[in-house]
Amino acid sequence: MNISSQGGEGGDASAVRPICLTGYMGAGKTSVGRLLAAKISRNFLDLDAEIQLRAGKTIRQIFQEHGDSGFRDVERQSLAALLQGSDPSVIALGGGTLQDETNRNALHAANAFLIHLEAPVGELWRRCTDGFNAEEIAKRPLLAEGEAAFKERSASREANYRSAQVSITTTGLSVEEVAQACQNAISAILQH
Ligand code: S3P
Repeated sequence: MNISSQGGEGGDASAVRPICLTGYMGAGKTSVGRLLAAKISRNFLDLDAEIQLRAGKTIRQIFQEHGDSGFRDVERQSLAALLQGSDPSVIALGGGTLQDETNRNALHAANAFLIHLEAPVGELWRRCTDGFNAEEIAKRPLLAEGEAAFKERSASREANYRSAQVSITTTGLSVEEVAQACQNAISAILQH
């Protein structure tokens, strides 16, 4: 496990800051976020789930009917709605959320604590595709572009992922171990 962090903070700010998990598809944002929230007694919110609720459609349908830009519109509105909640939560962002400047500004304004879950892109591709049937793979429409495009897209997002306060390498770790690493980082960086 490798935890790197940028900057510490004083006080008890963690009590009020939303904790947001970022990273590319397959990084484990939802499964880790759910477990982390339970461990630190916070609500868990999943941006992709909120998007689907708000649109009344699956992510696949949104992409099919409204394209990438239509999806990003709902994503932006959904993130704003989640950040307005008064309960401090753990929020699993989507893999592309940080690409949008409005989203980055909203996260900054909410004083969100960003944790980047990372793994080599080849491993992420395998996590998203190995052992899944076509229907499951279609739940993430961008996977249809194939492995080379998946890798290129990852590289184009790297700088935004790197803007997170903490980066956790997830290779070889269980969901429990990654959630524990997040909890350790939260205690170490936010509470001291
Ligand atoms: C996307 C990632 C997906 C989902 C949508 C677009 C992206 O979320 O928001 O398919 O642009 O990387 P996950 O990262 O949770 O799979």
